[in-house]
Amino acid sequence: MDLFDNLPQPPDATPTQIAPGAFLLRGFALEKAPSLLQAIEAILQQAPLRHMLTPGGHTMSVGMSNCGALGWVSDTSGYRYSARDPLSQLPWPCMPACLLELAQQAATQAGYPQFQPQACLINQYTPGAKLSLHQDKDEKDLASPIVSLSLGLPAVFLFGTPRRNDRPQRYRLAHGDVVVWGGPSRLAYHGVAPLGDDEHALLGRRRINLTFRRVYENYP
Ligand code: SIN
Ligand code: FE2
Repeated sequence: MDLFDNLPQPPDATPTQIAPGAFLLRGFALEKAPSLLQAIEAILQQAPLRHMLTPGGHTMSVGMSNCGALGWVSDTSGYRYSARDPLSQLPWPCMPACLLELAQQAATQAGYPQFQPQACLINQYTPGAKLSLHQDKDEKDLASPIVSLSLGLPAVFLFGTPRRNDRPQRYRLAHGDVVVWGGPSRLAYHGVAPLGDDEHALLGRRRINLTFRRVYENYP
């Protein structure tokens, strides 16, 4: 066993390029994680996590909610963005300044300044939950990147290319890691392998992932 295995990983100052236009920012949100989690828990009080139905009628293993002007939703009529939570018919909770700033700072570090996200999808994984390989293509604005923040239990993130049949690379995403993908990788296929069972000091047997997206070039 490596004696240094339990030491905290110092955040990487420089983003690691994982594909053209795609970057991994290790530990980028580590210091702010406790306050980000407080903000997330407050959102989930207003707009609780729920397991949405896929257009094919399957229940997703990942629990989801949203904050921001728009939220990503799925049901048997399809995937789309909605300004209201279908459970309450209320607007989604506002995107807290701490989350917006973190997403903008990460985007800037990755070479995407001026990122103005309109939507933040909150994904909660419990052991066994997974997300099949897919493209984020429900957004009209494909010039803006996707910013993805990981908290809690580590997961294996699969990241490929815009071609379905290219074998994806595998990255272990830990608490506080951020991935940003845009430009030539904006439509890259990606997914999450089934979450392993473990206990995280702040989140217990859970992983929370936030993805920040700009949906429309001009909105409202
Ligand atoms: C997503 O693709 O929306 C989520 C990715 C992740 O959980 O890391
Ligand atoms: Fe995605």
